[in-house]
Amino acid sequence: MEFNRRLEEIPVYPAASTYEHSGELVKLASNETPWGPPPQVISAIQARVETLNRYPDPDKSVMRRAIADRTGLPATRVAVGNGSCEILMAAGEALLEPGAELVYAWPSFSMYPRLAAQSGATPVRVPLDAEGRHDLAEMARQVTVATRLILLCNPNNPTATALPVHAIDAFLADLPRHVTVILDEAYVEFNMLQDPDDSLDLLARHPDLVLLRTFSKVYGLAGLRAGYALGSEKFRLAVDRVRQPFSVSTVAQAAAAEAIRYQDEVERRVEMVAIERLHLELELGERGLESTESQANFAWVSLGDREEADVVGGLAERNVIVRGGTALGQEGMMRVTYGTRRENDRFLAALDEVL
Ligand SMILES: Cc1ncc(COP(=O)(O)O)c(C=O)c1O
Repeated sequence: MEFNRRLEEIPVYPAASTYEHSGELVKLASNETPWGPPPQVISAIQARVETLNRYPDPDKSVMRRAIADRTGLPATRVAVGNGSCEILMAAGEALLEPGAELVYAWPSFSMYPRLAAQSGATPVRVPLDAEGRHDLAEMARQVTVATRLILLCNPNNPTATALPVHAIDAFLADLPRHVTVILDEAYVEFNMLQDPDDSLDLLARHPDLVLLRTFSKVYGLAGLRAGYALGSEKFRLAVDRVRQPFSVSTVAQAAAAEAIRYQDEVERRVEMVAIERLHLELELGERGLESTESQANFAWVSLGDREEADVVGGLAERNVIVRGGTALGQEGMMRVTYGTRRENDRFLAALDEVL
């Protein structure tokens, strides 16, 4: 077999090791929520099971309309995907090519380096600042005539930090027109600095901006794979063109269209996450472990002079799965997703043994 030479450049996704363990695991490694989908969403899924002999709607019209109703944008400006990751990869294919430049902060979401590797574009990584936030001034300085795409992750994975909307607004206002920005908002619902609707206002002021959102986090549908992008119609048509038409399953389309109707449930979940965030921040602080200011559903914790592999491995031996920072771009750190109170307390008990 002879493979495309670019294959060697594509980083292997640093998958969490949760899938190979047995016994009762505390899964705090993948920034999922600990709650499954609400009952109405489960019913919507069950209602589609008997018609799975048919292909899904390639226009994803019901799902797109439901997102349009919720966001107030026309459905023509809503792209949906097999997880938001699929839209991200399709955007890379539609926008990038050898000679083009892709600017993103680092450490940030582990899929971003792939966009450059897969397209042959040049990656331009801009280190986060000392607080783990995007350095927007430096990112702006890195823009050249060849820059095609900038990825902003807000709140940022893995550092959990967020930028205020007005800072992003000012950054966008100064960019040249040939640059597309994707604002990845996988964790936007958990961000206490803003309401998720605040970034919709950015779309009105910056018509080429793309907001990327997902049903995998607060909606509890990570296993189903459903995400969406809000942007220009031009953007939607471009990402649809580079993908197969049936990438979002019938079940995923139906579940997402139903899930977005229950914003009370979203708020309830956000509150529960905020309570667990406070609980863990306090408990970690009492153990002398510092974390960044989290606006997401996970903590980014500094391990000081402790060996990262010993801590993460010691937790895994106790059936508590978290992510070590090295795989995510910064050694000496660990990323811990907030679980239920019981799971978080099991994590703390295991941590005490390990420390
Ligand atoms: C920043 C960020 N963007 C996008 C995603 C992708 O989510 P999905 O493809 O499940 O929608 C994730 C998942 O962890 C993420 O952390």
